[in-house]
Amino acid sequence: MINRVIEEIFIDVCEPSDNAQVIYTARQMAADIGFDETQQFLIATAVSELATNIIRYASKGIVILRLVSKMSNTGDIQGIEVTAKDNGAGISDIDKAMQEHFSTGNSLGLGLPSVKRIMDEFFIQSSPEKGTVVIAKRWGQ
Ligand SMILES: Nc1ncnc2c1ncn2[C@@H]1O[C@H](COP(=O)(O)OP(=O)(O)OP(=O)(O)O)[C@@H](O)[C@H]1O
Ligand SMILES: [Mg+2]
Repeated sequence: MINRVIEEIFIDVCEPSDNAQVIYTARQMAADIGFDETQQFLIATAVSELATNIIRYASKGIVILRLVSKMSNTGDIQGIEVTAKDNGAGISDIDKAMQEHFSTGNSLGLGLPSVKRIMDEFFIQSSPEKGTVVIAKRWGQ
């Protein structure tokens, strides 16, 4: 299957103020492709969870937001793809990290599970040598 990239925005993240840029851009992109305000908020929240994890657990990394499209039965549909990538220490047990209320940061441990729930597609890979990459997509109508 071919996903066409219509627009892409790269945001370096290393401090909380970068997260504001991430939230603003994700919300704008979601609005551009017709998501209602509730969905814009949810998508921006998911993207923000990933940026927060980078800042908290890897110090720095990059968030790439892409406006993508693909063919479906009903014609072309558009979506948002987020890639969150860092070269930090990685996640030693991904299954655990994906469980609700697991946190090594004394936090709620709800970030990654909620990203998976909000988005239609979710991919995570992590290793101590290479760090962590999460790719998630949310398709419109
Ligand atoms: N980019 C990352 N690099 C290293 N470890 C990570 C990264 N992202 C997540 N983790 C690990 O996965 C765990 C679960 O992440 P998750 O976002 O679900 O919860 P949290 O960040 O601990 O809490 P919350 O997001 O609810 O504030 C983290 O506690 C951390 O151990
Ligand atoms: Mg988190």
